[in-house]
Amino acid sequence: MQKIAIINQKGGVGKTTTTINLAHGLAKQNKKVLVIDLDPQGNIGMSLDIESEPDIYDVLINGVNPQQCYKKVDENFFIITSRETLTKAQMILVGEPSRETVLRRKLEPISDFDFVILDCPPSLGLLNQNALLYVDEVFIPASTDILSLKAMSNMIAAIKELNRVFKHQAEVTKIIPTLYDKRNKICKTTLKQMKETYGELVMDPIHASSKFKEAPGKFKTIFDYARNSRGAQEYRKLVDIVLGAEYFSI
Ligand SMILES: Nc1ncnc2c1ncn2[C@@H]1O[C@H](COP(=O)(O)OP(=O)(O)O)[C@@H](O)[C@H]1O
Ligand SMILES: [Mg+2]
Repeated sequence: MQKIAIINQKGGVGKTTTTINLAHGLAKQNKKVLVIDLDPQGNIGMSLDIESEPDIYDVLINGVNPQQCYKKVDENFFIITSRETLTKAQMILVGEPSRETVLRRKLEPISDFDFVILDCPPSLGLLNQNALLYVDEVFIPASTDILSLKAMSNMIAAIKELNRVFKHQAEVTKIIPTLYDKRNKICKTTLKQMKETYGELVMDPIHASSKFKEAPGKFKTIFDYARNSRGAQEYRKLVDIVLGAEYFSI
């Protein structure tokens, strides 16, 4: 079971968009995928029109087994949703013993998936520390603008420090440039700098496209909303790389 956190302490950089589309793309390749929404904004459920309880709050605070929270989105594609109560969970967790590893303990019953993907909130707080201490791999979606680079180096330093303190090994394996517009000089410069700093970790950019804004309004992933669009092709390629496959089509 591959456990991946999609994380960046900046908001609006494409974390949720990447989570949903990567997950659905993997599911379409016959991988069984569970997405867990760890952001109190609950955008995963909202984008897919699934918002019922019990959800991740109940797992963390009310002792509900995570297996009781699976909601099926499509063949092989399941989610555990969140809602704004998760903010309260964070405050409750602060008082727990071993508060950074509560999630890891609570998610232990989950074993029947090929991929578990966590959509993380935009912070470096306790929920994200819990997320990082559950996963083996970290993907960082990063918008291609100037402020993004600084946020990313802070993020990577924080992950290293957490690994050191907790003797854990969550490894940043992919940086996914998002909201890319090649007519925009800043985008080009930022992508170049990302590649200079992080080399092969940097994936091909996901271009800015209105299709990504429209799809959640129809409760669809990019593959169901605009399967032949450039955006769908770009996420297909990411899926391909995650699977380590050379050729692949949906
Ligand atoms: N490649 C893209 N092109 C255009 N809009 C995008 C793209 N990726 C995400 N968006 C839009 O940008 C906004 C923020 O994206 P989201 O995935 O919710 O970011 P985050 O989860 O990091 O806050 C949403 O309205 C989303 O539809
Ligand atoms: Mg989000």
